[in-house]
Amino acid sequence: MRLAGKNTVVTGAASGIGRETALRFAEEGAGVVCADMDTEGAAAVAASIVANGGAAHSVRADITSEADAARLAEESLAALDRIDVLVNNAGVTILGGVAELSEAEWQREIDINLSGAYRVSKAFWPHFADAGGGAILSTASIAGVVAARQDAAYVASKAGLIMLTRCMALDGAPHGIRANCVCPGFVDTPMFEGFIAEQPDPDASLARAAGRTPLGRIGTPRDIADGFVYLASDDARWITGTSLVIDGGLTIGLPE
Ligand SMILES: NC(=O)c1ccc[n+]([C@@H]2O[C@H](COP(=O)([O-])OP(=O)(O)OC[C@H]3O[C@@H](n4cnc5c(N)ncnc54)[C@H](O)[C@@H]3O)[C@@H](O)[C@H]2O)c1
Repeated sequence: MRLAGKNTVVTGAASGIGRETALRFAEEGAGVVCADMDTEGAAAVAASIVANGGAAHSVRADITSEADAARLAEESLAALDRIDVLVNNAGVTILGGVAELSEAEWQREIDINLSGAYRVSKAFWPHFADAGGGAILSTASIAGVVAARQDAAYVASKAGLIMLTRCMALDGAPHGIRANCVCPGFVDTPMFEGFIAEQPDPDASLARAAGRTPLGRIGTPRDIADGFVYLASDDARWITGTSLVIDGGLTIGLPE
């Protein structure tokens, strides 16, 4: 088991990539705190880990709240005593081009996807520094690497998260804190289903997403969770500040 003896916290753990990451971490022997603003969803994931013999707790936390971030750190440490890995995964998509987005939509996207990761990382930072290290992982996106039409706030939030990761890697290195992120392509989750459902022809959009991906299919949450297992493990002990693209080859080159 690659994460035996490690204790982890995953935000957005009630659904999609976060849910699968929590389950994979537990499969690899980690203790897991499942954090989400969806209280019931996070509790269900923690319960399923415990039912399979693992150690898990759930905490209700809205990452737009500094108080919730502080409470998440406190309750996680109270539950598991030591935390080795934090995964900033909670996020939302608010579609819209530069001209269409309202100021409030822009602010909300940045507040959740970028400031949320900052807030929660900062809440855990003193613990990692005192403990002599830890791993801070985040779910960015290929949308932080290449731009997309009608998605300005999301793209900017994820590009910011990639640079926040690098800043945390530099600031954290003297304390033994590693910071890395993954950049998923299209992944089959409730968020992606919602995005596809909003398209004028959802079936055609789904087929196009798979067709544009060189490896011929959209991703599964497990494809991403396996990347997190690697970055959380001691196999990644000399890796910090990196952005691991997991996209079936979508961003290798121009479409034909
Ligand atoms: N699905 C994709 O194709 C894809 C691609 C690239 C990146 N991502 C990123 O992956 C991450 C997970 O997305 P997903 O596809 O699993 O989505 P999802 O909607 O299935 O899950 C997101 C989870 O985050 C939680 N959440 C949202 N706002 C929150 C807040 N303020 N506080 C606490 N929890 C909150 C939700 O309750 C939900 O459980 C996101 O950061 C997303 O941007 C997804």
